[in-house]
Amino acid sequence: IPVDPFDLVIFGGTGDLARRKILPGLFRRFCAGQIPENSRIIAAARSEMDDDGYRDLAREAIEEFGRKKGRDKKAVKAFLKHLYYVPVDAKGEGGWKQLKERLRDDDDVVRAFYFSVGPSLFSDLAEGLQVNGLSHRDVRIVVEKPFGHDLESARELNEELAKHFHEDQIYRIDHYLGKETVQNLMAVRFGNMLFEPLWNAQYVDHIQITVSETVGVGGRGSYYDNAGAMRDMVQNHLMQLLCLIAMEPPARFEADAVRDEKLKVIRALDPVDPDQIVRGQYTSDGQMPSYREDAENPTSKTESYIALKCYISNWRWANTPFYLRTGKRLNAQASEIAVVFKDAPHSIFGIDAGRHRNVLSIRLQPNEGMTLGVTIKEPGPGGMRLVDVPLDMSFAEALGPEAEEAADAYERLIMDVIRGNQTLFMRGDEVEAAWAWTDPLIEGWERRGDSPKPYDAGSGGPDDAAFLINRDGRRWRRIQ
Ligand code: BG6
Repeated sequence: IPVDPFDLVIFGGTGDLARRKILPGLFRRFCAGQIPENSRIIAAARSEMDDDGYRDLAREAIEEFGRKKGRDKKAVKAFLKHLYYVPVDAKGEGGWKQLKERLRDDDDVVRAFYFSVGPSLFSDLAEGLQVNGLSHRDVRIVVEKPFGHDLESARELNEELAKHFHEDQIYRIDHYLGKETVQNLMAVRFGNMLFEPLWNAQYVDHIQITVSETVGVGGRGSYYDNAGAMRDMVQNHLMQLLCLIAMEPPARFEADAVRDEKLKVIRALDPVDPDQIVRGQYTSDGQMPSYREDAENPTSKTESYIALKCYISNWRWANTPFYLRTGKRLNAQASEIAVVFKDAPHSIFGIDAGRHRNVLSIRLQPNEGMTLGVTIKEPGPGGMRLVDVPLDMSFAEALGPEAEEAADAYERLIMDVIRGNQTLFMRGDEVEAAWAWTDPLIEGWERRGDSPKPYDAGSGGPDDAAFLINRDGRRWRRIQ
């Protein structure tokens, strides 16, 4: 879908996120013909630099982090013509006038400001925009996570932003919502007759959400050591996945209809007992450094892994466990949501046939796709022996290379900002509700002084995480 011409200002335009994700993403949209001719991307940051200097930085970023088209020099050159740079001091007065001069005051041009900076600068930027006459009613601002550190700070941030902008102007990014499979989850649930009738406590035994990473925290230690896996991943990404899996069908696929339903899920989450949470911290395996070395904090009690079991107390999900786990320096780089259905009520094939359960596995990455495990008869003359086979749908295979090429979360979300579509962005009350659920859990382990369980870098996580689910007669799915 084409978008209107735009002026997109990226505060923090020289930073890591801009180089790794935003610029390569915008370049891909450009290659797909989605950046209108007279659109401009204006980077703003503290460093002194001119347009050409920034274009060099952007070219290097696209070559380093872009996909194969980054090697298409002609396309890169054409894209760079859309880029400009203005040095701006977020906390002071420097550069704002120049920035304003660069922007077009034209109702036909969408104006968006991307705050690709730490949250401590959000309110300075919001104020800077207002003081300098840049916060018109129709501009949009995009803010990155972390959105606060706890409920109180998130509220303060919401209040600060609300002084200058209306909620319908604020786009809070959770890039998991931009992932292809995550959106497909809604298409599968609400576009088919097949799944929704079974999507409840009566037919679902439990649900597992896993986000497993092989990377450590090296390089981001100072941020991460104050956050930990709960704040960095669970409060936002895993919570969003949980909402999309568990929410009621919204009446329409529209921002507030979807977000109202997600909010109801978060509000229906029960508090989690401490014995249903396992925190872990990676230790050195002899080759890779330990978490404490990466974080440069020899006594850190921050978790780089967390697993927990939670319940959603509502009509649809009462007593259905949701098992969540995520961690760094694990043995696999893979994310999956698995809906594990209950056993058939009676096995007509006898106990020899074994236990067979349908599992719908939704793979977020890599190899995005879905698999439905179904039970069939093992081929051959050996009698009625049952076997589970996957009904497999890899998006790349089914839809061709296009699916693969189009699959980055950031570019999709940025285009949604330009379109003015907030469906895949978090509303202020949603973020606060998520903190309201996570805060007491964090306060609990801080008060008790709990230390995370050690696990070897490159392993599957702490043993206690296996125990958390095994004691319920269930197993974590194997993640590869
Ligand atoms: C970020 C977290 O939000 O998401 C990182 O801060 C994490 O710690 C990253 O590595 C994971 O994103 P993705 O898209 O690589 O799964």
